[in-house]
Amino acid sequence: MNRVYTKSAFSKFYKQSIVSDVSNNNNGGLLIHFWIVFVVPQAKGQVFCEDCVAAILKDSIQTSITNRTSVGSLQGLAVDMDSIVLSVGLRSDYSSTTGTGTNCIYDLHADRLHQHFPLDISITSGRMICYFKLIALVGHLIRLSISAIQIEADNCITDSLTIYDALMPIKSRILYRICEPTNSFLSFVSTNNLMLVTLKSTQVQKVKEFHGYFEIIPQEKCGKVILALGNTGFEGRITSPYYPSYYPPKCICAWNFQTPQKNLGIALKFHNYTISEKSIKGCEHGWWKINEHMYCGYYIDHQTIFRVGSAAVNVEFQCSSKLSEQPLLVEYGSYNISQPCPLGSFVCHTGLCVQQTQRCDAINDCFDESDELFCDVSRHECNTSFLTQHHSLLCDGINDCEDGQDEQDCTESVPCANNTFKCNNNMCFRKQNAKCDGIIDCLDGSDENNCRCGSTKYGHTHHRIVGGSDAQEGEWPWQVSLHFGGVAYCGASVISKEWLLSAAHCFQGNRLSDPRIWTAHLGMRIQGKAKFISPVRRIIVHKYYNNRNYDYDIALLQLSTPWLDTMKWLIQPICLPPSTHRVHSGEKCWVTGWGQKHEADDEISAILQKAEVEIIDQTLCHSTYGLITARMLCAGMMSGKRDSCKGDSGGPLSCRSKGDGKWFLTGIVSWGYGCGRPNFPGVYTRVSNFATWIHKYVPSVF
Ligand code: ARG
Repeated sequence: MNRVYTKSAFSKFYKQSIVSDVSNNNNGGLLIHFWIVFVVPQAKGQVFCEDCVAAILKDSIQTSITNRTSVGSLQGLAVDMDSIVLSVGLRSDYSSTTGTGTNCIYDLHADRLHQHFPLDISITSGRMICYFKLIALVGHLIRLSISAIQIEADNCITDSLTIYDALMPIKSRILYRICEPTNSFLSFVSTNNLMLVTLKSTQVQKVKEFHGYFEIIPQEKCGKVILALGNTGFEGRITSPYYPSYYPPKCICAWNFQTPQKNLGIALKFHNYTISEKSIKGCEHGWWKINEHMYCGYYIDHQTIFRVGSAAVNVEFQCSSKLSEQPLLVEYGSYNISQPCPLGSFVCHTGLCVQQTQRCDAINDCFDESDELFCDVSRHECNTSFLTQHHSLLCDGINDCEDGQDEQDCTESVPCANNTFKCNNNMCFRKQNAKCDGIIDCLDGSDENNCRCGSTKYGHTHHRIVGGSDAQEGEWPWQVSLHFGGVAYCGASVISKEWLLSAAHCFQGNRLSDPRIWTAHLGMRIQGKAKFISPVRRIIVHKYYNNRNYDYDIALLQLSTPWLDTMKWLIQPICLPPSTHRVHSGEKCWVTGWGQKHEADDEISAILQKAEVEIIDQTLCHSTYGLITARMLCAGMMSGKRDSCKGDSGGPLSCRSKGDGKWFLTGIVSWGYGCGRPNFPGVYTRVSNFATWIHKYVPSVF
């Protein structure tokens, strides 16, 4: 290394090289891990680069064109070009691992298959960086299992647990990073016989802990030939490599299915996953080739069935992600090609079969609600105007008809007497003012739900973004403007003292996902005149967010400083709809934001804009846009003109409850075709779908 770099263009910056580890490689050679140290004056930063340092090393290695191997020669030594991985290291890692720091380094060698070697650490004070170097027998792999981690939750800014597919902290070899505490069991597999696990904490105030173990496992071949039985139905399962561990970023599996009869094809039931036609972009969560057709995989919150109408089916799966991914489970079986679903059943968009009688019964049997689309609207239950199309909502304690007719003559649930409170579970609580008195009276706690949210001091008048008008001071006290690097970029809504809800697509990308570059502006009407500004401490993007179709477009933001009660005239949380909440088409709601006032102008608005929009029937929206998932809802005007637009993303679609007049966050501005175009309403994230997800991080709301 000294010879290579002292003779290079960077010789004046080069200081020294230090070997940190030597291990066997899989080909009978040695794998050397080392630091190459350069000292570069700050002003000269631009001329120096990571790729240049790698290029200098690679250029020094002589390769011959005649014997086409990756092995070349460096000063008489045989060097495998493919083994050269070079990346910028952190100064803290350098000083800690070369012995100048006072940190913990463990060299752990394992030589017996499947034996569990415990890894436990607990730190109570100071600043810490711990390195666990895990080394297995050559030709074997390492499985790291984690049973509990106690760290600060802030996107790995103060604390992190990082798993590397190498012995050194090389960025390009990160298998996974854990940035929040967890008690659920997780496991990860390396792609060679080495693994490095680092646990870092910049300031230990509370106890930081890590518990787990590692073991050596043999390499597995992924894929096989499968002869399916003739019976229809699911008969077996295939999985991602090293199931149920997270699977590594690189893998190839091939399964060849054969059914016994020409009229039988292969059905694949993906758990929490779906595949769809590959676009020009690459796949981020698995690449599939099924009988010569290419697909990309996506994680979702329900199962899907994919059918291949052929007796011989070749399925190839390639891991194609930056990091290790959640384990995949796929059931398989044969099915009758001419009749995939039993007689009298309906085929869902998810591929599932449900009985015809399950269609249009207001119950989501398909998992994606496709059995509830294109239903005949049966309006006979209400005499006067009709609010919902679902007749099964009769006697559910909610007035679906404007005149409350659907709730009359109910035997299942007796209406509650005056001065009593009706709980969500239909029980009556015999107490005046049971609602919001700070005491839980209903068994389901529904009397204490949504007590401190969704009200404004401002009296909303019915006036008339795109096609909107100026909002008044204090009219939308939950509206937030999110600034990225000092510039207004997205909207959000206040849901508690320290939590905001926004759209996942606002935070896509390396820099956009870094909370330190964002600030939240609350209690603001005119841009730049916020009542309260807080840095963002943590961003939680929904793990199933799909940047291709904007599915699961939701993110939670935690403020560094909660807003104060003294600001409550201008800052107020909006209520969150419970998961049982249904939106009714035709209902009027409001969308607000500082986004563009016209599709064509590139400028955002200085004054907060509001526009009244109408909830559009899901079936109708589906027929204009094609795929509208169960996590989306449409609002706007079919005639166009009133809409949200660029810059409004993440902001609220606020709907006022007919009962108590509280405002609910029904939607989050997500996407649309242009802005305000006829027949193309705005598409919003359907917040009621995420009640459980929000509750997991913000237990104080609801
Ligand atoms: N994605 C846009 C943003 O980043 C929001 C688009 C909303 N479009 C619409 N037509 N409603 O701000």
